[in-house]
Amino acid sequence: TWTAANIADALVEQVADQIGDGLAICGLSGGVDSAVAAALVQRAIGDRLTCVFVDHGLLRAGEREQVQHEFVGATGARLVTVDAAETFLSELAGVSDPETKRKIIGREFIRSFEGAVSDVLGDRAAAGDKVDFLVQGTLYPDVVESGGGSGTANIKSHHNVGGLPDDLEFTLVEPLRLLFKDEVRAVGRELGLPEEIVGRQPFPGPGLAIRIVGEVTADRLALLRTADQIAREELTAAGLDGQIWQCPVVLLADVRSVGVQGDGRTYGHPIVLRPVSSEDAMTADWTRIPYEVLEIISTRITNEVPDVNRVVLDVTSKPPGTIEWE
Ligand code: XMP
Repeated sequence: TWTAANIADALVEQVADQIGDGLAICGLSGGVDSAVAAALVQRAIGDRLTCVFVDHGLLRAGEREQVQHEFVGATGARLVTVDAAETFLSELAGVSDPETKRKIIGREFIRSFEGAVSDVLGDRAAAGDKVDFLVQGTLYPDVVESGGGSGTANIKSHHNVGGLPDDLEFTLVEPLRLLFKDEVRAVGRELGLPEEIVGRQPFPGPGLAIRIVGEVTADRLALLRTADQIAREELTAAGLDGQIWQCPVVLLADVRSVGVQGDGRTYGHPIVLRPVSSEDAMTADWTRIPYEVLEIISTRITNEVPDVNRVVLDVTSKPPGTIEWE
């Protein structure tokens, strides 16, 4: 029978069998999936797991601190943080195509994990130890939408599936590969992870890079980070988090429109709000946010974010839209 406890036990056993007495690293993204995958593997192999958090510079405000405090606080797992913002930004320079961005990010994640291995091994390297296994929080919908399910087209290459480099040397451990998000949350609760982690809204591994339509630059990331923080603050303050699956905030960097602010003409960029309600992200509906809340968000973003003179609301369901714009 399907209970979270049964599934958790079965997955722990399966992971223990797969890894044997090997060493593993797990990429943590700050999201639910990788946190639950890490907790499962930790239960299976204990401190032969090291978690690796890649700060790729595409994170939202406060995310790095959240992983460092909440996840480590909840699990006591060993965590290595890799500062890779400069590398990711230079690899992404000049790139606007969404699939190319995704492939670059998938590849650079793996390069960062490879770079972290010597940190992970420490003295054990001398004894000939190797890290053979890479744990990922891949879910069933990630596999399907990256074209891995039977008879499905590649809609977008999720960074941890279709975005992986061909020369990957790790063996993948993906205990959640057959699960949907609500099942993952149930397993996470079963493993004792706190609600701040299992209840968190999804955020994609490629981060803000796939929410900038156009080239990713440090300046644009800074704008988007501020706009995103404002939207999140106001949605939370309005008590809407439970109704919203997630709310991507998107910067249309390649679009400009004319506005008027103060007593002058502006020629700035639009920010798109994309609040959606969903069960499993395979389909979604746009969330009916009260007008008063939209008004506050719009006013704050245009006042507080330089170079943004318009806020628009995405009222498209999935299908035909996807949740993210890229
Ligand atoms: P779409 O845009 O395909 O998104 O409707 C469905 C869900 O998946 C998330 N998403 C990703 N998550 N790596 C991830 O970890 C990715 O490359 C990726 N692409 C999309 C998206 O935020 C939504 O929850």
